[in-house]
Amino acid sequence: MKVLVSDPLSEQGLTLLKEHFTVDLLTGLSEDDLIEKMPEYDALVIRSGTQVTSKVIEASINMKIIGRAGVGVDNVDVEAATQKGIIVVNAPEGNMLSAAEHTIAMMMSLARNIPQANESLKSKKWERSKFMGVEVNGKTLGVIGLGRIGAEVAKRAQGLNMVVLAYDPFVSDERAKEMGVRMMSVRDIVKVADFITVHTPLTKETRNIIDAEEFSLMKRNARIINCARGGIINEDALAHALNNDIIAGAAIDVFVKEPPFESSLLDCKNLIATPHLGASTEEAQVNVAVSVAEEVVSVLQGGAAKNAINIPSVKPELMTMLAPYIKLAETMSNACAQLLGKNYEKIGISYYGDIAEKDTRPVTVAAVKGMLQVALGSAVNYVNANSLAKSRQVEVVESKSESKEEFSSTIMVQITIGQEKASMVGTVIGGKGKIIRINQEQVDIIPSGYMIVAKHINKPNVIGPCCILLGKNNINISGMQVGRASIGGTTIMALNVDSEVPDPILEEMRSVEGIIDAKLIKL
Ligand code: NAD
Ligand code: MLT
Repeated sequence: MKVLVSDPLSEQGLTLLKEHFTVDLLTGLSEDDLIEKMPEYDALVIRSGTQVTSKVIEASINMKIIGRAGVGVDNVDVEAATQKGIIVVNAPEGNMLSAAEHTIAMMMSLARNIPQANESLKSKKWERSKFMGVEVNGKTLGVIGLGRIGAEVAKRAQGLNMVVLAYDPFVSDERAKEMGVRMMSVRDIVKVADFITVHTPLTKETRNIIDAEEFSLMKRNARIINCARGGIINEDALAHALNNDIIAGAAIDVFVKEPPFESSLLDCKNLIATPHLGASTEEAQVNVAVSVAEEVVSVLQGGAAKNAINIPSVKPELMTMLAPYIKLAETMSNACAQLLGKNYEKIGISYYGDIAEKDTRPVTVAAVKGMLQVALGSAVNYVNANSLAKSRQVEVVESKSESKEEFSSTIMVQITIGQEKASMVGTVIGGKGKIIRINQEQVDIIPSGYMIVAKHINKPNVIGPCCILLGKNNINISGMQVGRASIGGTTIMALNVDSEVPDPILEEMRSVEGIIDAKLIKL
């Protein structure tokens, strides 16, 4: 297996990769260079320098994973990777403390004019009154985005005896209370805060979350910091606010276009700027490189990814518990799809009993994958299953109920095409999945190998001729189940067979008096 590392990566990460694979470190590649190189590699490791566009992704043949040694994946076309079945992982925690510390350093630099004073003294000036600062003690800090980094900044600011206000629509008031933080709207924060810092991802909701109107509401001595992503604060509005003394200062680590050499921001008064240094510490670079290298090793060796952006990732302990259900759901949906045909309209996955209380997203994805595989073969995988279902307008419906009957946990998969339906119910016993219902009929089947599912009228002399037919053709029956039904009603017979059954034999079985339909499925 070959791994391409296309941005500088710490030695520890490279060493780990080299223990397992052939690794090429080729930095500064253009888009065309990357397109040319992609077909050779199984994994791509990047930082923020490489732009992984849809054209780059399209050019890959064997690529299984793109690892971003850092948090933001804005330089990767995740949608295109997902469509192509490539896992995208990041390293969400490795640099959070460094980014939080950089934010605090920026805040202190703003409060005490340290960069400007340093520059002045080095040009042989002694301007003590020019660089009069402010204390942060007792001041109010507004944090927009109270995620990993925002929370670490809040904690450190409280250590400096600051009052912390925050806005984050995805953080509950209880969680904020635990952190000693008061939640408020952006509008209310900007009116009262002495310092404001943004820590959201750049999305359509957060782009320009601080714009001209917000600046107009700020106190004249307010100072603002952006160590998250360029564009969260509108750069033109910021330049106007700084140059017209609407606010007292800004410290900016990230820009809409990097490097920001053409940006008018760099010439603004009271602006402190660093060249995207939030994660630039020895510790953070080792952390993110090792984290991503571990993910690449795991995925290329057939294991799971902990920090996948485009597949549901769950805790390892839960994954162990879910593993047999994942296999069972995939097998049952694949079998249902084989029974029905190919133009599925809807797949329902229902969870009953204890499993309903768990995070079952990986099981649902597996069911979708199993269904689509009948039509799409190896083009579908756990990464692109949901997006392929969406693009083919297949509705995926998940439902949960804590009620249990015979077993502590059961799952049901039902696939629909128009009026036709095929469903299976299964459970896990001793770590092994088994099918306990096919449509309405109760069965007891360990899924493996080939199975004939024959719908028939429950009357004498139907099952016998089918078995004789298979025997005559040297096809061994290794298991047999007949669903319970009223005499004369329709039921199903499920025959496990040791080898594939050729079409003419199945056709002959369908002509046995009382057989309504007979299908061969591979479990
Ligand atoms: P995170 O996902 O842990 O936190 C982001 C928070 O933003 C979440 O709590 C989320 O609920 C919140 N959020 C999302 N939409 C929002 C909205 N509309 N309004 C308010 N809050 C919203 O991410 P993180 O690891 O804390 O990273 C935060 C940012 O810092 C990211 O943009 C990341 O790329 C950036 N970052 C920069 C550097 C650097 O070198 N400067 C280093 C690391 C991370
Ligand atoms: C990140 O998103 O992790 C940071 O911006 C740091 C980086 O890009 O290296």
